[in-house]
Amino acid sequence: MSFHYSALQKCLHWLHAALLLCLIPLGLVMTRMGEGALTNQFYEGHKSLGILAFVVAVVRLAVRAIQGAPPYERALHPLVRVLAKAGHWALYGLVLMIPLVGYAATSICCKPVMLFGLMVVPLEFTGSESLMKLLFVWHETAAIGLALLVCGHIGMALYHRFKARDGVFERMT
Ligand code: HEM
Ligand code: HEM
Repeated sequence: MSFHYSALQKCLHWLHAALLLCLIPLGLVMTRMGEGALTNQFYEGHKSLGILAFVVAVVRLAVRAIQGAPPYERALHPLVRVLAKAGHWALYGLVLMIPLVGYAATSICCKPVMLFGLMVVPLEFTGSESLMKLLFVWHETAAIGLALLVCGHIGMALYHRFKARDGVFERMT
């Protein structure tokens, strides 16, 4: 019996993590830079990477639904297990919601968007300026929530790796 996620799940996890660890700082920096050509490039890069991160999240969830999660090598305390599960599903929820809200707000304000300069992204959502502003507030608030949750997630992963040494970290490596 294997206590590890599949190779595909591991690849998708680390690709997704790398994308998110670029996207969050990029978003925070670009919105504070002031107008300019570099700012515009950062915005375009953010939108393309954000759409890619959404696609990776959907693929991850589909693979997760098909392959499931491996059993734990050592039984975890039931409370730790419940908290870990809740944290993982909150992460999945946020990584779906944030790009969808960013996409909807961008559809209202910022047509056209090019996906990595290659093709025009269909931006079908319409609405008022006040709705667009509200969506961007949700986008920012949820992204900050995601950043905090990711910090907790990384902290727990390092705890399992260096303190508990119970094989949980190695499930994803
Ligand atoms: C998981 C994916 C994403 C993450 C983690 C993320 C994160 C962020 C963050 C942290 C900010 C800065 C918010 C602020 O301080 O005001 C931001 C801003 C922004 N994001 Fe995203 N984003 C993602 C996906 C997207 C997508 C898919 C789009 C559009 C297609 C998008 C469009 C924007 C835009 C236009 C802004 C600037 C908003 C403003 O000027 O107020 N984002 N994002
Ligand atoms: C940055 C964004 C990240 C996100 C959104 C994320 C998300 C997730 C999710 C949703 C799971 C549960 C997988 C499942 O059962 O379907 C998971 C598992 C895991 N992640 Fe991450 N992760 C991120 C970064 C990291 C980093 C940087 C590390 C290591 C330092 C890490 C280590 C782990 C480990 C060890 C597991 C397995 C935990 C277990 O099976 O109980 N993750 N991650």
